[in-house]
Amino acid sequence: MDVDKKEQVVNPWEVSAKDGGKIDYDKLIDQFGCQRLDDSLIDRVQRLTSRQPRLPPPRRIFRTQVLDAYERGDKFYLYTGRGPSSEALHLGHLIPFMFTKYLQEAFKVPLVIQLTDDEKCMWKNLSVEESQRLARENAKDIIACGFDVTKTFIFSDFDYVGGAFYKNMVKVAKCVTLNKAMGIFGFSGEDHIGKLSFPPVQAFPSFPSSFPHLFPGKDKLRCLIPCAIDQDPYFRMTRDVAPRLGYSKPALIESSFFLLCRQGENGKMSASDPNSAIYVTDTAKEIKNKINRYAFSGGQDSIEKHREMDFWHISSLCWILTWRCLITTNHYPLWGFYLIAVEMTLKFFYTFLDTLKSFYNNLFFFFSQVDIPVKYLSFFLDDDTELEHIKKENANGRSKKRLTEVLTEMVERHRMARAAVTDEMVDAFMAVRPLPSMFE
Ligand code: TYM
Ligand code: TRP
Repeated sequence: MDVDKKEQVVNPWEVSAKDGGKIDYDKLIDQFGCQRLDDSLIDRVQRLTSRQPRLPPPRRIFRTQVLDAYERGDKFYLYTGRGPSSEALHLGHLIPFMFTKYLQEAFKVPLVIQLTDDEKCMWKNLSVEESQRLARENAKDIIACGFDVTKTFIFSDFDYVGGAFYKNMVKVAKCVTLNKAMGIFGFSGEDHIGKLSFPPVQAFPSFPSSFPHLFPGKDKLRCLIPCAIDQDPYFRMTRDVAPRLGYSKPALIESSFFLLCRQGENGKMSASDPNSAIYVTDTAKEIKNKINRYAFSGGQDSIEKHREMDFWHISSLCWILTWRCLITTNHYPLWGFYLIAVEMTLKFFYTFLDTLKSFYNNLFFFFSQVDIPVKYLSFFLDDDTELEHIKKENANGRSKKRLTEVLTEMVERHRMARAAVTDEMVDAFMAVRPLPSMFE
């Protein structure tokens, strides 16, 4: 167990770095057999779609032959998903969905979105009814990202699994031994058998024949899956079994994590610690507080402000007392003198503390090269030149302020879009129906 603790763990249920450090993406890329998204791939996407690629995460990891097929004129479809474990999504969840929306618009391809209510029912100990209810609530957040109803099919496992889907599930299940599942997912003898049977459920939407109402007779259609790197185990298994079933392997674009926590960049945004994640339901004030408390920056904007505030409180108190002494006592010159001396000492003390603190911070950031607000901005700020600019002149904590602005505006836009999503719209997205203009 000790050895396990020291190693980094990245799987759909746990993301933690080695001994409190950072996630070593290079090691993951190696271990999972991924490839970094390099400039030549980005140029190719730009050429094929005739638009500037909008690739949010700074560490982009890509493994795909889908572009080769697209260049030859073969289309593909997109598949992504959400495990409905909470009422609201956090900003980390929005990243794959925003990216998927960009891909759908740029390549003009259909999209299937899986809501794994069965998965969360088994892992989070939710009742069947509660996880189905959360799935519908989460569908509203997903629809609010702006997906096109003529090209998008959202489904809940509890409703949709059966028929063609179930056939593919069983085919996948037959290719995976218990030993292999234990190796990939870390199952042990203590896990219930529901968990063991789940991975084929997340695998089957990667095959077009699971959707006979969408892709009849198109068994060779390729599938591209945008998600974060924690989902890789499911799709490593899927890619492993695909050739044996006579299907194409799905391609993946995996992003790194967006995290908001002091411990830095070493884990998944945790739903159990509501402060570590910014939810799409947070108010502007909550967002500001969370960023100030959890996102480290060389600028130390908020701490300095606090100190200044404390200082002014003490200073004005001293002056008030001085005036009171002047009015009410005979010894006013002496008392006034004492109080002003106290004020000067405190002022000196605070200035000294600040200098020490910023010296320490600068030293820390100089060596560690971390500026978390800038890292987060690189996920959400479209304008690369502005990002470069902020990076250069961060000394005054501007990145934190800009991050607060960008996120508040994004959450506000999302809130308005979500309020406009009706139950009828959810039904429309989730109806099992053909999508005649999905490639146009
Ligand atoms: P879920 O609901 O845990 O997460 C939904 C998506 O968000 C990604 N994600 C993040 N991305 C960046 N930063 C973060 N902090 C962060 N946290 C989560 C996840 O990788 C995921 O892409 N079992 C899945 C549902 C699923 C699925 C799929 C996901 C079914 N089929 C196919 C991807 C592709 C789940 O519970 O995701
Ligand atoms: N299994 C994922 C999780 O627990 C959720 C998920 C299901 C998903 N289908 C997906 C994520 C497709 C991304 C893409 O986090």
